[in-house]
Amino acid sequence: MSEWTPIGARADFAAGTATRVLVGDAAVALVTTKTGELFAVSDTCTHAEVSLSEGEVEDCSIECWLHGSRFDLRTGEPSGPPATTALQTYDVDIADTPEQTVSVRLANAN
Ligand code: FES
Repeated sequence: MSEWTPIGARADFAAGTATRVLVGDAAVALVTTKTGELFAVSDTCTHAEVSLSEGEVEDCSIECWLHGSRFDLRTGEPSGPPATTALQTYDVDIADTPEQTVSVRLANAN
């Protein structure tokens, strides 16, 4: 099992946004929904390999900016074409400290 990698303070990730972070060699999109839930998924669209963190966050999904595939942040599954392959999903932890450090773990992926 891989280790947790701290990527920033909870306040660094505003609601309704996605942020590209590197965890080891992996490009990860840290996504905060408008209701404040945090998810980590592969930042690379499975259709044509563009950065998903530049896409639109809506409810519990992120939409690829290039061709519009939408991915469920809980499962990584695309809801429609052109993408047909799920994103890798990763575990996210928020430390119970004043700064609420956010960490991502690459293991336990789908
Ligand atoms: S590159 Fe993302 S849907 Fe085509």
